[in-house]
Amino acid sequence: MQVCWEKFARYFEVELKEVKLSEGCYVMDPDKAVEMVDENTICVAAILGSTLTGEFEDVKRLNDLLAAKNKRTRWDTPIHVDAASGGFIAPFLYPELEWDFRLPLVKSINVSGHKYGLVYPGVGWVIWRNKEDLPDELIFHINYLGADQPTFTLNFSKGSSQIIAQYYQFLRLGFEGYKNVMENCMESARTLREGLLRTGRFDVISKEDGVPLVAFTFRGIRDGSLAFKLSANLRRFGWIVPAYTMPANLEHMTVLRVVVREDFGRPLAERFLSHVRMALSELDLAAKGPVPKMRLTIELGPARSAEEEASVRVVKREAVSGHRSVSLVSGKTKGVC
Ligand SMILES: Cc1ncc(COP(=O)(O)O)c(C=O)c1O
Repeated sequence: MQVCWEKFARYFEVELKEVKLSEGCYVMDPDKAVEMVDENTICVAAILGSTLTGEFEDVKRLNDLLAAKNKRTRWDTPIHVDAASGGFIAPFLYPELEWDFRLPLVKSINVSGHKYGLVYPGVGWVIWRNKEDLPDELIFHINYLGADQPTFTLNFSKGSSQIIAQYYQFLRLGFEGYKNVMENCMESARTLREGLLRTGRFDVISKEDGVPLVAFTFRGIRDGSLAFKLSANLRRFGWIVPAYTMPANLEHMTVLRVVVREDFGRPLAERFLSHVRMALSELDLAAKGPVPKMRLTIELGPARSAEEEASVRVVKREAVSGHRSVSLVSGKTKGVC
């Protein structure tokens, strides 16, 4: 779960009930979520694009199960969709997918502009199904800036540059432009996914649809530290690939995640894959332990002319442990290395 939900629960003293993940199922199971609903539940939140794996939760099924429970109990529990990433993906790539106000219980949706809205950080929004779904008492009206200004946010003054940037992107790209960008991201994610699978070293746990990201684990290896080591090795090539453990119930799984944005095209994906292969070779080499060291006693024969190199003869060879050292024994013509 994204940390914003934990913050919300703590700051507003709301009891958070989380559906635990299980092996092979990395999103909320709608059946389990609806089972947890009671008469005090203020809403069920579904995530369109899990932060951990990019997978879309099944909002349609959640809506149907919850509608049945509401009918049975005469409660009125609504759904909020956290579409931070998916809100800018689903409309372009999966227009038939019902996750939004087409479902009657979805009352509000949040989306981040700074993810797949393609602007820089600091802009996002929440929309309500109807005016009545946002209680009036939560809206403050101020007039000291020259006109009536309704304000709902927790913070107050904010720059407008992100909004201008978002508006610019809407005008510049339009529906077709966003669709092309999202299709391209998906294509790059596919290249990445296939390349990682081809190494034979990883299991990809993200789905082929959803957010264009690839989340992967080391195949058949329980040692979670390997993912952190790979992440550290990739950093040396300039890639910041987060490695993290999965939440409760799946803490034993360590995952690496690459989120594909519009500037991550196929050439970059190929370059990334070649760096992964190099980083893997380094890990393999390190796993074999230190390279065995030999002590060689050599004799340098004098060069007979200025053009000729001195001759080298190995006179003794012994395996050593400890540090490699270079020192000269017996004058200038013999060395140990
Ligand atoms: C599912 C989900 N919800 C909420 C957020 C927070 O969004 P923002 O960064 O726009 O505050 C994120 C960001 O990572 C997210 O993945």
